[in-house]
Amino acid sequence: MSQQVRSLAAEVEAAVSAAMGAVVPADLAGEDPLVRRSDHADFQSNVALSLAKRMGVKPRDLAEQLREGLAAQSWLAEVTVSGPGFLNIRLADSALVDRLAARGADDRLGVRRTRESEVAVVDYSAPNVAKEMHVGHLRSTLIGDALVRVLGHLGAEVVRQNHVGDWGTQFGMLIQYITENPDLTWRDADIDPAAEATGSAVSALDGLYKDARKVFDADPEFKARAQRRVVALQSGDEETLAAWREIVAESEAAFQQVYSRLGVLLTRDDVAGESFYNPRLHDVVAELQEKGIVEESEGALGVFYDDIRGPDDQPVPLLVRKRDGGFGYAATDLAAIRYRVQELKATRVLYVVDARQAQHFDMVFRTARRAGWLGEGSEAVHVQNGTINGPDGKPFKTRAGGTVRLADLLDDALARAREVIAEKDAEKGAELSEERLDEVARVASIGAVKYAELSTSRAKNYNFDVAQMVSFTGQTGVYLQYTHTRIASILRRAEAEQAGAAAFDASLPLAPAERDLSLLLDEFGATLDAVAKTLEPHRLAGYLYTLAKAYTGFYESCPVLRADSVEVRANRLALCRLTRDTLASGLGLLGIEAPERM
Ligand code: ARG
Repeated sequence: MSQQVRSLAAEVEAAVSAAMGAVVPADLAGEDPLVRRSDHADFQSNVALSLAKRMGVKPRDLAEQLREGLAAQSWLAEVTVSGPGFLNIRLADSALVDRLAARGADDRLGVRRTRESEVAVVDYSAPNVAKEMHVGHLRSTLIGDALVRVLGHLGAEVVRQNHVGDWGTQFGMLIQYITENPDLTWRDADIDPAAEATGSAVSALDGLYKDARKVFDADPEFKARAQRRVVALQSGDEETLAAWREIVAESEAAFQQVYSRLGVLLTRDDVAGESFYNPRLHDVVAELQEKGIVEESEGALGVFYDDIRGPDDQPVPLLVRKRDGGFGYAATDLAAIRYRVQELKATRVLYVVDARQAQHFDMVFRTARRAGWLGEGSEAVHVQNGTINGPDGKPFKTRAGGTVRLADLLDDALARAREVIAEKDAEKGAELSEERLDEVARVASIGAVKYAELSTSRAKNYNFDVAQMVSFTGQTGVYLQYTHTRIASILRRAEAEQAGAAAFDASLPLAPAERDLSLLLDEFGATLDAVAKTLEPHRLAGYLYTLAKAYTGFYESCPVLRADSVEVRANRLALCRLTRDTLASGLGLLGIEAPERM
């Protein structure tokens, strides 16, 4: 059962607002009470400073009046005025304890469903068929997945869309090449894993594509045949389509393998690739023509914006139809946005895509607004991400200069994590079996890669440094998972020592570290709301790290199992439990597992 517990910050805001209602003019009473967490007290409000000016009174006098109003509240232990008119508010310990008890008793930890009116379509991952998923696809995949989880948890209806690159003239060339060379081995089933170093259909296709390109550039006759094949593909020639379908199926199987290894929610049902929009392109372009939004230029159709210009100062169009009559990436995205709003009923469409596509999406969104596909009740956001560099900060390449395969990166992280976990386990007297070690290393390595990604502000570039990621100290996934296991271990011991959990005793005073931890635990819901609003999962990642550190501070200064009294011990165990559950829930919303032991 969910109680949808209000946060203490929200209660304080309501109390300050109520006090304002009694002493400020009606037209100002609804203003933001400007309540923030503070080092001087639990909360501070600056509202007297901002309102006094507008009322023509002294800020300190107004603050004093507000203080009197607040002083009547028994759950506020102390309200003082400082400086030019700051209100410092300290809560009664019992108010903290009550709130913790309410959160602890709720299976949602009191997190409110604040996004119930939202239908969010999330476009993420979007790898390309016949190509390996590489490190560049990691960011979109992980950020998108975290947003899907957080929005879903807050009650939004979430529709995942994997806009796979499965269409385009390049497939004509590839299919022609494969058809002319029937002896080439590329299907998964035909590949002898022992013989091939890379050993997957997609890596074989990736290679064949490059070979085909060479022949295409060198041999005009092959080029002509490849171009005829493109026409055959576009006009629905059955044999060509069958070859295309096979290539798509092999690629999607490979993507799915990466997703399941990463624990990403995307399934085959979420694939609505570029080809999905083919049947809609004609209508979309016709509608843009009718509405006078597209212009013809040298036989092509484009949408022009005066403020979007190239280096030569000429407007750069959003290319809707090419000169040869073919539709491309932009037309597909216009069809997608129309479909997502009109048929999927999206209120927000989120595009988790590399920042380098910013201009493309800017133009697509503007065009969609002009066409009336986006408007009241629907918005589109380009959720931009930066790039991942190598550990040295330079563009991430293999030693041979190629792009780094995602699968190889995960293997590397796994090997390092296993070393670190084995070392830690040896320190503790080698408790883990080989099998458990493998499993813990798997969970830790995936958590490490995800946490490194999600704790970085998504707009920034970052260096992929596996050694740093799997460290037990610092802001890492391993540190958070380890903190979780430490709490779990205390709770196991408590259970062994004395069955049955005692309840909170709200009349006991709290130590400073307990207050810090309590106030932080109370911020979980607001943190999730901030993630949903800003589409920045690093806020949650950062919050969990702060929480883990606050827990460490609490644990160092407040004995739990050796507490002075049974009552204090019960309160501290309850704090441990809520911290463990909040960590587990928060990590889960980042797509990171929270193990019981490691
Ligand atoms: N397939 C594209 C790429 O690898 C990303 C597609 C992003 N989504 C979209 N609706 N355009 O760069």
